[in-house]
Amino acid sequence: MCGIVGYIGHRDAYPIIVKGLQRLEYRGYDSAGIALFDGNDINLSKTKGKVEDLKQKSEATISLEGTLGIGHTRWATHGIPNDVNSHPHYSNSGDLVIIHNGIIENYESLKKELINRGYVFTSDTDTEVLVNLIEEVQKSEGAKLGKAVQIALNQAVGAYAIAVFDRKKPDEIVVAKLGSPLAIGIGENEFFIASDASPFIEFTNNAVYLEDEEMAIIRLGKEIKLRKIKDDAIAYPNILELQMNLEEIEKGGYDHFMLKEIYEQPRAIMDTYRGRLLAGQSLIKMAGVDQHLEKILNANRIIIVACGTSWHAGLVAEYIFEDLARIPVEVEYASEFRYRNPVITENDVLIAISQSGETADTLAAIKLAKEKGAFVFGVCNVVGSSIARETHAGAYTHAGPEIGVASTKAFTTQITVLTLLALKLAKEKGHFSTSRFHEYLTELETIPAKVEKALEANPLVEIIADVYKDSTNCLYLGRGYNFPVALEGALKLKEISYIHAEGYPAAEMKHGPIALIDEQMPVIVIATNKGHYEKVVSNIQEIKSRKGKIIAIVTQGDTQVRELADHVIEVPETFESLTPLLTTIPLQLLSYHIAVMRGCNVDQPRNLAKSVTVE
Ligand code: G6P
Repeated sequence: MCGIVGYIGHRDAYPIIVKGLQRLEYRGYDSAGIALFDGNDINLSKTKGKVEDLKQKSEATISLEGTLGIGHTRWATHGIPNDVNSHPHYSNSGDLVIIHNGIIENYESLKKELINRGYVFTSDTDTEVLVNLIEEVQKSEGAKLGKAVQIALNQAVGAYAIAVFDRKKPDEIVVAKLGSPLAIGIGENEFFIASDASPFIEFTNNAVYLEDEEMAIIRLGKEIKLRKIKDDAIAYPNILELQMNLEEIEKGGYDHFMLKEIYEQPRAIMDTYRGRLLAGQSLIKMAGVDQHLEKILNANRIIIVACGTSWHAGLVAEYIFEDLARIPVEVEYASEFRYRNPVITENDVLIAISQSGETADTLAAIKLAKEKGAFVFGVCNVVGSSIARETHAGAYTHAGPEIGVASTKAFTTQITVLTLLALKLAKEKGHFSTSRFHEYLTELETIPAKVEKALEANPLVEIIADVYKDSTNCLYLGRGYNFPVALEGALKLKEISYIHAEGYPAAEMKHGPIALIDEQMPVIVIATNKGHYEKVVSNIQEIKSRKGKIIAIVTQGDTQVRELADHVIEVPETFESLTPLLTTIPLQLLSYHIAVMRGCNVDQPRNLAKSVTVE
């Protein structure tokens, strides 16, 4: 986690770094810092709190001059969030200054050695150990900065994206990557460094994404030099032309990124199936699948690995794959899968789902599955991300940048991609007649308009949010395809409003959660008219007789549930397997409004980060 930004060129570095850090705050926001080189000296400012706090402190206390600088927004791993533990960190001489995203696992033993050699540490961080290790290598081996970074990193165990510069050689920044992302933006005689491209997109569309175990020496007036950290081999920069634009990463008139992203879903879903779903030709075209069709079709089973919201999308996919394509599916938390010696064979297909494409546990699960010979397919949102590069094949969700920490459009676009894949496999396996297949494709094409319709419930959802904003607990129930939606609804509420919420399969309620129900307990029930409608209605009766407050998500025109529930929110009718794309919408809106009403920081909930690059 953590976001890093750096600049070297002809512009003032300060505004570029501060704005860049604000764009990267989704990666962590418990403290922030900046170091600028003004031509003679390094001016450093850091503080516990947000980038806004850093701005105020820096503008009041240091010179903001300089065309070279680095900055950091932190999600604490080693050492509590406070001013001292914030990055950048100096080396003991005060010549080197570093920013780091990741964890140096063997920092304690390295620290002991450095203390024996007389080094003094002011923070509790692993990063301060790394910068002093680099300095020690510089001193003991007379190495230049690039070489010293390389030697030091070969002694370090862990994950990192770092940027470091030397007061004595202020025309270069050295960066290196293992496990955490690092992009270099290439402008006209200027370079940008960042955890993703958003900090530099208004300056350049040309970027190089470092591969794991690569480092780069970025020197003014020179081409960037790429090296392999392990063996010093030269690597050649693959300069990509980015498609992202600035508008996509700004709020566009909405109060919060989360709300903007909720409203972007009709477009995001359409962008995700555009060019793939060809209803007129009764065809689904997915390049990443077409090239490996035999392999995927002949899979013994599909194993889905993911974390957080992406894991919930995986659960929805389990229902779709089994129901439509008749392929056995297991859905695993990546963090559990990677450590439990799973049985994987060459006939398994592993699907890794990740919005950021950087989640450390998901990445590790992929590597494990590959070692065991499985074919790995990725579903990522961030183009060029580590997971996208690590997988054998894949399909991007075209959701556009998702900035709000609570995932919304990533979830529905993941479901869209997985639905396309399931439909394609179902057709190839002969489980669908041409006419049924065509019907499905046509229905899928109506989903953006139906999501639009579901969004019209927003004013009603706001009224309901006002009634329940002070609740301390909340239960979410759903069955079948909508059980994962219940889990996702509960996750959204707890992560942004800090109300304790649980998602349950509706029928399981009677095996425990029913004991919690009283007149204080709001229960959100997904009760669309397909699938297990009558059974869910019975569950609603059970809640009602225990005086629980019922908020039901129903199909447009429903009358039966309306008689029982305290509130109903309608969504348009669709095929059962496509209902999650609609029922999710009011749950996202409900969490959003409750969180706003409680005064919570919706886009940056406490303790969370959007991209979790530590295990
Ligand atoms: C974090 C984010 C979640 C996300 C999860 C998995 O916890 O806050 O929104 O669902 O990581 O991230 P990924 O990028 O792999 O989908």
